Amino acid sequence: MRAPARALLVVFATTCLSISIATDTIDHAASITGNQTLISAGGIFRLGFYNPPGSSDARAYLGIWYAGIPVQTVVWVANRRSPVVSSPGVLKLSPDGRLVIVDGRNTTVWSSAAPTRNITTKVTAQLLDDGNFVLSSDGSGSSQSVAWQSFDYPTDTMLPGMKLGVDLKKGIARNITSCRSPTDPSPGAYTFKLVMGGLPEFFLFRGPERIYASGPWNGVVLTGVQNLNAEGYTFMVVSNADETYYAYYVSDPSALSRLILDGATGQLQSYVWGNGAWSSYWYHPSDPCDSYYKCGAFGFGVCEVGQPPKCSCLPGFKPRSPEQWEQRGWSGGCTRSANLSCGSGDGFWPVNRMKLPEATEATVRPDMTLAECRQLCLGNCSCRAYAAANISGGISHGCVIWGVDLLDMRQYPVVVQDVYIRLARSEIDALNAAVNSRRPNRNVVIPVVATIFGMLLVVAVACCYFLRTKAVTKRQTGIPPSTRGDVFPLGVRKHSALSTAQDRQLNKSRMSSEKDLELPLFDLEVILAATDNFSADSKIGQGGFGPVYMAKLEDGQEVAVKRLSKKSVQGVVEFKNEVKLIAKLQHRNLVRLLGCCIDDQERMLVYEFMHNNSLDTFIFDEGKRKLLGWKNRFEIILGIARGLLYLHEDSRVRIIHRDLKASNVLLDKNMIPKISDFGIARMFGGDQTTAYTTKVIGTYGYMSPEYAMDGVFSMKSDIYSFGVLVLEIISGKKNRGFYDDELDLSLLGYSWKLWKEGRTVDLLDEAMGGSIDYSGVLRCIQVALLCVEVHPKNRPLMSSVVMMLSSENATLPEPNEPGVNIGRSTDTDYSQTHTGTSFTGDAMNDR
Ligand SMILES: *[C@@H]1O[C@H](CO)[C@@H](O)[C@H](O)[C@H]1NC(C)=O
Ligand SMILES: *[C@@H]1O[C@H](CO)[C@@H](O)[C@H](O)[C@H]1NC(C)=O
Ligand SMILES: *[C@@H]1O[C@H](CO)[C@@H](O)[C@H](O)[C@H]1NC(C)=O
Ligand SMILES: *[C@@H]1O[C@H](CO)[C@@H](O)[C@H](O)[C@H]1NC(C)=O
Ligand SMILES: *[C@@H]1O[C@H](CO)[C@@H](O)[C@H](O)[C@H]1NC(C)=O
Ligand SMILES: *[C@@H]1O[C@H](CO)[C@@H](O)[C@H](O)[C@H]1NC(C)=O
Ligand SMILES: *[C@@H]1O[C@H](CO)[C@@H](O)[C@H](O)[C@H]1NC(C)=O
Repeated sequence: MRAPARALLVVFATTCLSISIATDTIDHAASITGNQTLISAGGIFRLGFYNPPGSSDARAYLGIWYAGIPVQTVVWVANRRSPVVSSPGVLKLSPDGRLVIVDGRNTTVWSSAAPTRNITTKVTAQLLDDGNFVLSSDGSGSSQSVAWQSFDYPTDTMLPGMKLGVDLKKGIARNITSCRSPTDPSPGAYTFKLVMGGLPEFFLFRGPERIYASGPWNGVVLTGVQNLNAEGYTFMVVSNADETYYAYYVSDPSALSRLILDGATGQLQSYVWGNGAWSSYWYHPSDPCDSYYKCGAFGFGVCEVGQPPKCSCLPGFKPRSPEQWEQRGWSGGCTRSANLSCGSGDGFWPVNRMKLPEATEATVRPDMTLAECRQLCLGNCSCRAYAAANISGGISHGCVIWGVDLLDMRQYPVVVQDVYIRLARSEIDALNAAVNSRRPNRNVVIPVVATIFGMLLVVAVACCYFLRTKAVTKRQTGIPPSTRGDVFPLGVRKHSALSTAQDRQLNKSRMSSEKDLELPLFDLEVILAATDNFSADSKIGQGGFGPVYMAKLEDGQEVAVKRLSKKSVQGVVEFKNEVKLIAKLQHRNLVRLLGCCIDDQERMLVYEFMHNNSLDTFIFDEGKRKLLGWKNRFEIILGIARGLLYLHEDSRVRIIHRDLKASNVLLDKNMIPKISDFGIARMFGGDQTTAYTTKVIGTYGYMSPEYAMDGVFSMKSDIYSFGVLVLEIISGKKNRGFYDDELDLSLLGYSWKLWKEGRTVDLLDEAMGGSIDYSGVLRCIQVALLCVEVHPKNRPLMSSVVMMLSSENATLPEPNEPGVNIGRSTDTDYSQTHTGTSFTGDAMNDR
């Protein structure tokens, strides 16, 4: 009996407005309305009516959201197509055993599907701790009694344990469909679902059009989804006579995790909750090579770090239309270089670092061995390729035969599995000959591999070294860490006075080995003492990856401590990146890293402290901008230019900063500018000049068009950012914030207009005091305009920039119209990058 629940409900409903029913279950006698909610037994999920935040009208939806987090995150909506307009909505059980929502006019706006089993009077609906809302026919809650469950009708979210796919017994196909917008949960344009056919494979649709495929399931992976096996997660695809589905599970039951189909970007995004926010650890489609059918028949996508994305043809194939292929028109695909003989004269060529070709129309022979498959394929002229159907446990089970064109492939750096492509004998011979002739030529490949491997090794050694030193210190001294001396090379003074013979000995050995790394380690305890346990008072800023504190070491030295947010998935990688890079850099115009601290989950960077904060707090501040005269500004511009020149051309490695902006330039006591924040910087090898990224991060307003739109970055994209920064320093206006309504111009457009009209000096910050060297101003603006030219090849290198800035009688080229970036296409289609209108959330992040 559920009488107690009902009694509670009546009492609350009549005495107070904002309540949650202290139960997870409703029955025939109870209902949910207004502010009442059900809460799952463990307090994880809550079910009730809600109004989407930011929606202007009074549309109410029945939804399920997390009970324990401050951000209302709805994971399921019952009536996404039919909101309650005349309130109040009421959720109750109908006499025939359905869940129904009726509105204030007693009209039924939504009801669950008719129960598939006979209903008794004991029917109840219970909200479980996994987020499933289950209608059970006999009140027992056992899986046999489930008459209906919300997990069978997902909205845009997959929770751990949910199944995505087809259940032939129940006759249901579960998909996730994006929401129209954050304020409107009605079905949007994107759907992700299983398409039944040869091998299990999931497709992302935009309307009727396929835009991404998970790749066929081969018993181990969905061959088009990378990084699915994140730590703490397991996933599976089950395929048997009754059902085929994908599901994932989390090993830590307290971890909140969800996978959503985002309506704005059309991406599948996986999120975990931590540190008071959701962070995404993977998403698909994630690069142009994920685009469905991008490279046509027999073509495959190649998206490599440091290379622009492109398509290639399978071995033995050539572009169908070489002219179009040349222009990046890849959808025509590839055609055979030599016709098949259609007899036993043909052969097979294995490729193995590939997303498997789409296999929904391929034929699966679960009983056949690969050898039998080969014979079958040879004997049928329409057979194009074959492969093992299931490689679970490293053994091939069965095979799959493609009697259709091979579509939707992409190359990976790692082996996935062998796919045997049918080719004419002449092609096989030619490929064999090519492989043999390439063999002696090894010395071309090895240096590159060795360099990369060497770099990895350095990183690995550095990381191990940090951790080991730490452990050794603790173990050997036996002295409480807070009193232990921290003596380090590089002129960092001792932070405490203790100095036993043992300690000296230890320090000596540490110093000698640490020389290689040239980076001192700070104890967590030292940092805690210096920041007053990370007190709010000592916090001086908030960077992309965590807060920044000012700290005073025991000897009085002031330092800035950047504390990486714990559990931040990206943070750790960026941390290593930053340590690795900055440890190698020393220049008057770069902020100096004094050391770092790694303790269990804590990761911190210790920098020299900059008394005058960042440049943006001067140039964009009503009061402080007056303090910066032309001479100061020019010195700052020149300093930044020298710092960047060092990064690009003069340091031991070539570094692309990727996020140069006013807030990343710090000013010391003497107003000397220092470039900081290398969290997303990239190191380039010897001859490399450009790279391609699928994840455009940086700051809107400073990103060059080719980086924002195509993800191509190089020294020239940093130089673009530099140009923007110079215009900001001169004008005291933010490129991003400035917008001249009357002229419909951004700061770049406005500067260009003034330049063309010969009124360039009008750009000067009116607040600028002191004497002004107008020819210097003109020269700076001209250099800045050269730096922001639309074509990267027209932008000068930093060495010329420094030269042009510092020499008064250099003749400068005439600038062309600047490249104003109009936004990044959210479409993954990289052949039409100029169609986009808005940035994705990711690119907007000011990291
Ligand atoms: C729901 O609760 C909020 C605040 O908790 C209150 O402002 C509102 O009036 C309540 N609405 C109803 C219908 O009880
Ligand atoms: C609502 O409608 C049902 C039948 O549709 C009826 O039995 C019930 O009495 C109505 N309730 C109210 C409050 O009008
Ligand atoms: C419902 O009950 C009837 C009679 O008790 C039985 O014949 C029928 O098979 C049941 N249906 C289901 C779906 O269990
Ligand atoms: C997705 O599933 C819902 C039912 O949950 C169904 O109404 C809808 O048609 C499905 N969408 C697609 C594209 O299959
Ligand atoms: C793949 O093979 C393994 C081991 O035989 C089996 O357990 C699994 O069900 C197979 N998967 C599919 C999709 O056939
Ligand atoms: C392949 O066969 C087609 C006709 O089936 C013919 O037009 C074409 O020229 C042949 N290609 C080669 C390379 O022999
Ligand atoms: C050859 O393969 C195609 C496609 O797999 C199939 O439809 C056809 O029946 C096969 N023909 C023979 C003779 O097996």
